[in-house]
Amino acid sequence: AKTHLLKWEIKYAFKSPDCFTKLVITINGLSPGPTITATQGDTIVVVVTNLLETENTAIHWHGIRQIGTPWSDGTGGVTQCPIQPGDTFVYKFVVDRPGTYMYHAHYGMQRSAGLHGMIRVMVPQETKEPFDYDYDRSIVVNDWWHKSAQEQAAGLAALNFGWVGEPQSLLINGRGKFINCSLAGANSNVCNISNPECSPAVITMIPGKIYRLRIISVSSLSAFNLELEGHNMTIVEADGSYVNPVAVKNLNIYSGESYSVLIKADQDPSRNYWVALNVVSRKPGTPTGTAILNYFSNHPSKSPPTRPPIGPSWNDVLYRFNQSLAIRSHPNYIEPPPRTSDRVIIFLNTQNKINGYVKWAVNNVSFTLPDTPYLIALKEKLTHVFSQKPAPETYDYKSYDIGIVQPNPNATTSNSLYKLDYGSTVDIILQNANTLNVNNSETHPWHLHGHDFWVVGYGLGKFDPESDPKRYNLVDPIKKNTVPLHPYGWTALRFRADNPGVWAFHCHVEAHFFMGMGVVFETGVEKVGRLPESILGCGKSKKHTSYP
Ligand code: C2O
Ligand code: CU
Repeated sequence: AKTHLLKWEIKYAFKSPDCFTKLVITINGLSPGPTITATQGDTIVVVVTNLLETENTAIHWHGIRQIGTPWSDGTGGVTQCPIQPGDTFVYKFVVDRPGTYMYHAHYGMQRSAGLHGMIRVMVPQETKEPFDYDYDRSIVVNDWWHKSAQEQAAGLAALNFGWVGEPQSLLINGRGKFINCSLAGANSNVCNISNPECSPAVITMIPGKIYRLRIISVSSLSAFNLELEGHNMTIVEADGSYVNPVAVKNLNIYSGESYSVLIKADQDPSRNYWVALNVVSRKPGTPTGTAILNYFSNHPSKSPPTRPPIGPSWNDVLYRFNQSLAIRSHPNYIEPPPRTSDRVIIFLNTQNKINGYVKWAVNNVSFTLPDTPYLIALKEKLTHVFSQKPAPETYDYKSYDIGIVQPNPNATTSNSLYKLDYGSTVDIILQNANTLNVNNSETHPWHLHGHDFWVVGYGLGKFDPESDPKRYNLVDPIKKNTVPLHPYGWTALRFRADNPGVWAFHCHVEAHFFMGMGVVFETGVEKVGRLPESILGCGKSKKHTSYP
C-alpha cells in the first residue's frame, strides 16, 4: 500500500462559479478541491494549513470510517479543536474500502462556501468489481448562494430568524449559471456571463463506450434529481457498497450521498446531450443546473438542440421513496445484518421554537457543540464540559401527531451524548414530522460518522414499534453512511457500534445541523489510543501542557 502526502492551503479567493463573483473557500486555489485518488489500503496524509486569516476550520473525510484514528475525523467540536488561522494540522488515515466518498469542511457553514471535494478509492489491480466499464468520470453536485457563509450563519442564529432561502444556482463540477447575470447585462463587474470560470462542465464520451460516473452531492440544502438526457443509468454503487443493479431514468441524490452509475454512449452521436440537475423535495426557486454530455467529436461547448430535462415533479414523495427502496445490496456482496438489536433509539425530527429561536431538534433536544471536543473531554476525563443528562431514547409515539404543527413546549438545547455499548447492535429509527409550517415536512439526509449502517426499512407515516420491525429487510439491505428521511416518513437503520471513538450523527443539510439537528454517539472510547496533541488547544483542553 502507498502513502499519499497532500499539502493543502485553505484560503479565500474571488471566484465566479456561476458567473457571479464572490469570496470562495479554496484548497490550493480550487473549489471543488482536488480529487483524492487512492487504492484500497493506502494511507492518506493531508497537511492542512489554514490561511483563512479570521476563521477556524476543520475537514471531515465523509465515508471514511477512521478505524483507529478517530481524531482524524475532522469534526470540529467533536473530534478535534478547530484549526486556527495560521495553524497547520495533519490528518492521517487509511482508506480501507474501495468506493466513492467525499470530504468537506465541518465547521460552521463553511461547506457552503466551497470547501469540499471527492475521494475515489480504487480496488487493487487484481480485484474485480461486479460490473465493467471503459472509463471512469466524476460529477460533484451542490447548491450555491451569493451570501457569505457568515451571513447565512448569522441569520440562522438570530432571534429575528433569517433563513438562507433557496440557492441562487446549482453547480455541476463547480460550474453553474446565475440566471440574473444575463438579465443584468453581460458585463457588470460582479457578474460576467462570458467568464470562462462559469462555462458549463463537460463530460465527453466516445460513442459506444460505457462510462462509470461517480456522483457525490455536497449540497448544503437541496435534494437533487440528476438526469442524463436520453440515457438511462444503472446504479451500481452507493456510499461505497455495491448495489444490485437498478436501471433508472434519473437519480435522486441527497446531500452526503455518493453513487456510481453506468451509462452507455448509445444515442445519436451527431449531437450533445444535457446533464440536468433539478431541485426536488423543496419547491424549486432555482433554475435547472446544466452541464454538457459531449459525444466525441462534437464541439464540447455546443448546446444540445433540446431543452434540459425538468426531472420528476418536486413534490412526488412516492417517486423518491420507491427509488430509496430499490437500492439493495448486490447479491454477491451481502453482509447480513445481526438478526436482532440490543437497543432501539427512536429519533423524532422536529422544527421547534426554543426561547424564540428557530431550531431543529431530535426528541425535543436541539444539539449544541461544547467548547471542549467530546473526544478530548472523554479521553482526558475532563468533567463538566458537556451535559451529563442522559439524552432521550424515544418520544411519546402513542399520542404524538406527526401530521400537524406542534408547539413542543419542552424543547431544549443540550450537548449531552449517547453512550453505546462497545460492540453492541443499535437500531435507530428516524421519524419525520410536520415543521412549523402547516402541511410541510422536509427531507433530511442523515449521516453517521465512523460506521456504515444497514438500511433495514423505510416507511411513510408514523413508525409502529410493534409491527414495523417485523417487516425489516434483513435479507439484502444496503450498507450506507447517509440515508434520506422522507417527508412524514420513517427510516430504520441498524449498525454495530464497533469503532472506538466519538461520532456525530446528523442531518446533512448544513443549515439544519447548524440549527441543532444532530446527536453524538460515544463508543469504546477507552480503547482509543493516545490522542495527538495537535487536536487539543480549545475549551478546557490545554495544548502542550495537560496531556501526559
Ligand atoms: Cu458529510 Cu458530519 O458530515
Ligand atoms: Cu434536515
